[in-house]
Amino acid sequence: MKQLVSLKVNGESYEVAVEPRRTLVDVLRDELQLTGAKKGCGGLGQCGACTVIIDGKAVDSCLVLAMDARDKDIVTIEGVGEKGKLHPIQQALLDDSFIQCGFCIPGLVLSAKALFDENPSPTEDEIITALAGVLCRCTGYTQYKDVLVKLAKQQGRGGEK
Ligand code: FES
Ligand code: FES
Repeated sequence: MKQLVSLKVNGESYEVAVEPRRTLVDVLRDELQLTGAKKGCGGLGQCGACTVIIDGKAVDSCLVLAMDARDKDIVTIEGVGEKGKLHPIQQALLDDSFIQCGFCIPGLVLSAKALFDENPSPTEDEIITALAGVLCRCTGYTQYKDVLVKLAKQQGRGGEK
């Protein structure tokens, strides 16, 4: 039986009727039409394509029940950047890497954003750890990691080992 849940996504409040077993990624995609979170591995928690930020932490939204995300602060890729202006992480990836299909990019941007929001100049190891949950089937991690290391260096003493 469906229950009414309050979700706060990208600063907007929504009341959604959901079945208790529905995952957040399904509700975001099917009920709120926020399709930036992808179900790359079918909801097994293995690909990171469904990553969103909940209360400042990057999480796989396929592993979170929508009920458990009620009243939390959820950020999806649609809420990153400003109208007509990409977030600095998006811009850096666009400028300095060769993105292919782009399927992994929302999860990658949100994983990096959660890290940089907490620490604007993370070390290379911290960047590697933050990206570890996101699979890129096209290009691998190295170029994306290098872009983020460069960004961290621009923002302070980050990017070091
Ligand atoms: Fe792959 Fe969520 S769909 S980790
Ligand atoms: Fe295709 Fe990463 S660019 S999966």
